[in-house]
Amino acid sequence: MNRQQLIDAAVAARRQAYAPYSEFRVGAAIETVSGEMFVGCNVENASYGLTICAERVAVCAAVATGQREFVGCAVVTSGGAMPCGACRQFLAEFAARLPVLIVDADSGEVVAETDIGELLPGRFRLREDV
Ligand code: THU
Repeated sequence: MNRQQLIDAAVAARRQAYAPYSEFRVGAAIETVSGEMFVGCNVENASYGLTICAERVAVCAAVATGQREFVGCAVVTSGGAMPCGACRQFLAEFAARLPVLIVDADSGEVVAETDIGELLPGRFRLREDV
């Protein structure tokens, strides 16, 4: 996992956040096994429930190019918030033990280093073979 590149990519993506309702900006970056970086930011909507989180945007960006093997993820927010439950399940679909760096946008520091197995023990699985 290329930590600094992941963090820099997530910080840059956070600048693109569309968050006029909550004003809570989130940037995420995910690194593929081949070292490519994909990014996401939160995209809010006037119909609140349609809002998409940064982590899920990043995963979708990667999957849409045919990449599904991930080696690391960084999430950047003011204060270093943890990923929501929906995003944990979404990340867990592709990597049960994906390392996750939680970064405080204000200091630029990694405030927590964890992985998806720790964040979401007992993820929902529909089939054992997928
Ligand atoms: N948000 C994310 O982008 N990722 C998370 O893991 C939690 C929440 C966004 C959604 C919404 O735009 C804003 O943060 C406040 O909930």
